Amino acid sequence: MFIEKMVLHSFRNIEQQEIDFTKKINVFYGKNGQGKTNLLEAIFLLSAQKSFRSDTPYEMVQFQKVTSKVGAKVFNQGVTRKIEIEIDKDLHQKKCFIDGKPVRATESLTNLRSLLVSQEEFMTLYGKKNDRRRFLDKAVWNFSPTYLSDYRNYERVLKQRNSALRENTFGGQVLLVFDEAFVTYGAKVIFERLRFIKEISALFWFCFMRVYGEEQKVELCYRINKEVDKGDKEVLQQESLADLEQLLKEGLRRSYKEDCLRGYTTMGPHTDDFCIMLMQKEAQKYASQGQKKALLLAEKLAEVELLKTQNIEPVLLLDEVKSDLDDQKIEHLFYQLLMSGCQSFVTTTTPKDVDFIENKENFEIVSGSVVASKKM
Ligand SMILES: Nc1ncnc2c1ncn2[C@@H]1O[C@H](COP(=O)(O)OP(=O)(O)OP(=O)(O)O)[C@@H](O)[C@H]1O
Ligand SMILES: [Mg+2]
Repeated sequence: MFIEKMVLHSFRNIEQQEIDFTKKINVFYGKNGQGKTNLLEAIFLLSAQKSFRSDTPYEMVQFQKVTSKVGAKVFNQGVTRKIEIEIDKDLHQKKCFIDGKPVRATESLTNLRSLLVSQEEFMTLYGKKNDRRRFLDKAVWNFSPTYLSDYRNYERVLKQRNSALRENTFGGQVLLVFDEAFVTYGAKVIFERLRFIKEISALFWFCFMRVYGEEQKVELCYRINKEVDKGDKEVLQQESLADLEQLLKEGLRRSYKEDCLRGYTTMGPHTDDFCIMLMQKEAQKYASQGQKKALLLAEKLAEVELLKTQNIEPVLLLDEVKSDLDDQKIEHLFYQLLMSGCQSFVTTTTPKDVDFIENKENFEIVSGSVVASKKM
């Protein structure tokens, strides 16, 4: 898939802009604070229905304006579709349209898929447990479109169970109603997360190994909440849905007193952990900055390869990736991402850093406008 054209109105510091992109590599260059990352954010918004910088969509509406609109023509498997998002600050509304017809946000997710590599992604992957889970969930959404509805169902039942616990209205019976759905959706969520990890593992190892050599063993690992009795297993690998349901059922039973005491659900996929292991040690605790960057790039490269096995070519959003590449090995991973054949959007303050790239178009960004563009 690739974006043919993008149109922006009152989006952050971009007043009004229409840009035709190349199918290959698009470089946004310019001084700090000009709007390069804002352009990536707009593309990300069209693919994920949210920002990667903030949880409140209204922040993306230009200062002094009420509404913001972003649209793109996306070519995918022989068809061009128009995807649009409108954000209204006063009404607190975000609307999505495909070919002019209003659709639910979840319906538009498969029309454009993006993979982001940025400082924000780095912080998410090596941040707190919640952040790491968010990193994993984003990857699973791209990989398995049905995951989102299971995840939303799980979130809904978790909310209901928590409010029953908080209000102390359960008396055993009410809680049981939620427990059944909690176990069903919770098991599905964990099952899809594990399926993604299993599918991507070999690719991840391969991408990292090509640059770092075979002796550097890397793994993705999923740790289910410690309250769940996993027998002698340190981490969960592949389990059947029935086994996961059993684990969660047991887990709920064991944490029942604690849940009542605290007034919320203390166990389940919303409390699990995900991390990258380098030489059997958690990367976020033990890896060097350079190794951490390389692991992030290798994971993204593996995601590209995995999506390609499903005939999906995501668009790549690479925010200032080149600028702090201190190591040739990391640089090599960056080149490989660019050479993956996917349409890419690269930001940089120093365009000569990307001189080596062929088949690209350079867009100079000044104060939220494209002031020059050149095919190279
Ligand atoms: N809602 C908004 N309305 C208007 N301007 C905004 C809004 N949100 C952010 N900005 C402006 O957008 C600019 C930042 O844009 P952006 O992050 O895209 O810069 P950049 O070109 O990527 O810079 P850098 O090279 O430093 O990363 C800032 O000048 C900021 O004030
Ligand atoms: Mg930026």
